[in-house]
Amino acid sequence: MKEKAWGGRFALPTDSEVEAFTASVHFDKRLYKHDILGSIAHARMLARRKIISAKERDAICAGLKEIGADIEGGAFTFRADDEDIHMAIERALTEIIGAAGGKLHTGRSRNDQVALDVRLYLRDEIADVLKLLARLKKMLLKTAKKEIETILPGYTHMQKAQPVLLAHYLLAYYEMFSRDQGRFEDCRRRVNVMPLGAAALAGTGLPIDRKAVAKELKFPALSENSMDAVSDRDFAAEFIFAAATVMMHLSRFCEDLIIWSTDEFSYVEISDAFTTGSSIMPQKKNPDVAELIRGKTSRVYGDLVALLTLLKGLPMTYNRDLQEDKEPLFDAVDTVKSSLSVFAAMVGHVKFDRRRMRAGAEGGFSTATDAAEYLVSKGVPFREAHRVVGTLVAYCLEKNKPLTALSLEELRRFHKKFDADILGRLAVESSVAARKSYGGTATEVVAKRIAELEKNAGR
Ligand code: ARG
Repeated sequence: MKEKAWGGRFALPTDSEVEAFTASVHFDKRLYKHDILGSIAHARMLARRKIISAKERDAICAGLKEIGADIEGGAFTFRADDEDIHMAIERALTEIIGAAGGKLHTGRSRNDQVALDVRLYLRDEIADVLKLLARLKKMLLKTAKKEIETILPGYTHMQKAQPVLLAHYLLAYYEMFSRDQGRFEDCRRRVNVMPLGAAALAGTGLPIDRKAVAKELKFPALSENSMDAVSDRDFAAEFIFAAATVMMHLSRFCEDLIIWSTDEFSYVEISDAFTTGSSIMPQKKNPDVAELIRGKTSRVYGDLVALLTLLKGLPMTYNRDLQEDKEPLFDAVDTVKSSLSVFAAMVGHVKFDRRRMRAGAEGGFSTATDAAEYLVSKGVPFREAHRVVGTLVAYCLEKNKPLTALSLEELRRFHKKFDADILGRLAVESSVAARKSYGGTATEVVAKRIAELEKNAGR
């Protein structure tokens, strides 16, 4: 029992089932780089404060670097009784450098250590996610520019509503992913707080220098309260919420691509490289990537609920429950990163069928609002105009023809304010061109927005 770092007061060895049950090393070994980074900064500070000698510091730092290289290269053997990554590294350190290894844990606890590791880890992951979001946004902007003339039906309630530019549709997602970037940047401010020195929960009686550690690890802020520092996982919940929102956005985009690639719509063709076949039906080409992203969204929601539930009602301060924060967090990180990456690649390989989209936009009386707005421009109250055009649509349904096939004479039977200039207004191009209100779909408005986004590098 004396082998365990905390074994002093124990007379019996840990039950082997308990050992397996309480272990986290099989998943928290992912934190090894950040654990070592934090330990090196801690050891340097201890030496500067003369809590350990310069020789001990050098031995500790060299040993930690060796362990880091071994884990990286796959030469490190984790043991069943290692418990977690912190214990595994400390155990190996003592094996390599002897007694000095036992000085590393001076003035700290695994409670502040694990909080530090997760913050360091998440800071790197946020940088990765931000890069992936920027890459996706770049792809959307490029595609929007290419599709600036493409008109498709905009839907509400899955019913054709009004014609819009495909570029406008794509930039709607651009806005969503910009907000996602903002959420991760905001989350990063709260991740970027240095908890080491809180020790178990109360701080330490040793003359440590927390500011120096924060500076070395590039943290702009220190935790102000040691009890909060070891029990806080708000930042992890925030990260998962931001990831869940990205997934929600992706799932909506995927849903459109799935519907649009049906035979019924045929608005898009997703590249062979991003679809899969059926084991029985030779004709099939399934949008599995889009479906899986839609499906994986649920995992990240699950991760968020898992963490929030873990934190609910947890007594102050550190409780072992908190070890359960890592798997949902890691799962959210992996899922959002892989989804963003594969999605950006897939969107770059989607072929939009401009002709089909345009034909779709012409159906469903999608320019009826333009007829009503025309009457409004001639002084007719909107409610009256709405009713007149409604009866016009009913007439078209009965005669089985589109609004654009009506003669001026027919139109005038419904309202005398219809003049010759109405005829051009009911084409989808005119409808789009008319929507010049700020943020609307008119080509000039969208083109201006594209130029603005290109100039501001995406903001
Ligand atoms: N593996 C633990 C965790 O992830 C590290 C902290 C353990 N602290 C403790 N006092 N048992 O939370």
